[in-house]
Amino acid sequence: MQKLKVKGKNILSGEIKISGSKNATLPILAASILSEKKIDLKRVPLVKDVVTMCHLLKYMGSNIKINSQKKNILINNKNKKFKKIAPYSFVKTMRAGVIVLGSLLARFGKAKVSLPGGCAIGTRPVDIHLYGLKRLGAKIKIKNGYIFAEAKKGLTGAQIRFPSISVGATENVIIAASLAKGITYLKNCACEPEIKNLTDFLNKMGANISWLGKREIKIIGCKKFNHVSHQVMFDRIEAGTFIIAGALIGKKLKISGIQTRFLNTEIKILRKMGVRMQISKDYIYILHSPKIKPVKIKTEPYPGFPTDLQAQMIVLMTKAKGKSQIKENIFENRFMHVPELNRMGAKINTLGNLSYVEGPQNLNGAEVMATDLRASVSLVLAGLIANNQTVINRVYHLDRGYEDLEKKLRQCKAKISRIF
Ligand code: EPZ
Repeated sequence: MQKLKVKGKNILSGEIKISGSKNATLPILAASILSEKKIDLKRVPLVKDVVTMCHLLKYMGSNIKINSQKKNILINNKNKKFKKIAPYSFVKTMRAGVIVLGSLLARFGKAKVSLPGGCAIGTRPVDIHLYGLKRLGAKIKIKNGYIFAEAKKGLTGAQIRFPSISVGATENVIIAASLAKGITYLKNCACEPEIKNLTDFLNKMGANISWLGKREIKIIGCKKFNHVSHQVMFDRIEAGTFIIAGALIGKKLKISGIQTRFLNTEIKILRKMGVRMQISKDYIYILHSPKIKPVKIKTEPYPGFPTDLQAQMIVLMTKAKGKSQIKENIFENRFMHVPELNRMGAKINTLGNLSYVEGPQNLNGAEVMATDLRASVSLVLAGLIANNQTVINRVYHLDRGYEDLEKKLRQCKAKISRIF
């Protein structure tokens, strides 16, 4: 198994260009099944989850061409013999595979999709997805670990209020409703920028989707779609990760290719912690920030502080002078990085969904284990500031969601390499 070796205490300076968003690309790839016309996706991050989704689409019958140099994917789903199946072998490693359910149902009226099952951070149920699709008229049963769904007469628009906020469920139902007969009103939607990027993509393709309020969407079902070319938005979690790296050990580190308006909450909190930044519309300079102050924060659905930056924020809290606190409100088991950080000398106490971090605490390099995507990158961040060397095992977790991580950090003077 591959490992990452990080030598600590090297000041980061230079520029990191942020890649396209994994969490915008995955639902857009799922939505591509709706259309028989050509789709050209630009600025796609060629990370493992995106490649797995492409393999799933190919298995079902998509004609997909990936250009790794240009970071674009050409898709043609004209195939009349599309397999309406998403097997466990794909969905077990890339849970977002469940989002093909909405597009298969909408276009073909039939789908057999593996239940994604849980992962390290939680049980990850899909009941809200199924609730929304049933409200659109789908008949759904679960058998042998699979979701069997059908809508013989097609889907019909409905009024749907999500019982709780779910990114994936909102995406699945938006995609399904795009081809439903009549009008759908969705309330209590997740409103992450990646979902707005999905609705922009669908509208370019010919859908008729409008955001009526922060968490309210109106969808008028359409009959067919046209060719579309779409640029995926920047990855705001990758951006947040590298901004925190700059706050930890940067000196004039530039993070470019972003839209800072989608990072307002993160910027406000980092400023409160004493991180010095120069902010422009599409880039941020992080300056040397010697005095980090403690904060008390909680993770929330967008526009709150994102759960996907919780692990990275905890590493910054180890540098704060005093006691910080972070409450994880989204997933039930998302502190697996804490024991590994404590092995590096951090002083973090976890009680239920609350972690208390005492600082400032010097970290020492150690051999550590990655457990999930964002936990693994928090160990890289810890390695950047620790004394001596840190070796991170199971970096396949990292490869699911970060494109060229080592290369980007090495270009900014980090000492990081992969051991094969
Ligand atoms: C998306 O996951 C992201 N993944 C996650 O990013 C992100 O952490 C999460 O949204 C929250 O922002 C992608 O976009 C591919 P949810 P998703 O449905 O859609 C519960 C990363 O690191 N829930 O908003 O699965 C669920 O268990 C990944 O890039 C139900 O109970 O998240 C969780 O507690 C990790 N029933 C909460 O809702 C359901 O039917 C939020 O989950 C669906 C969700």
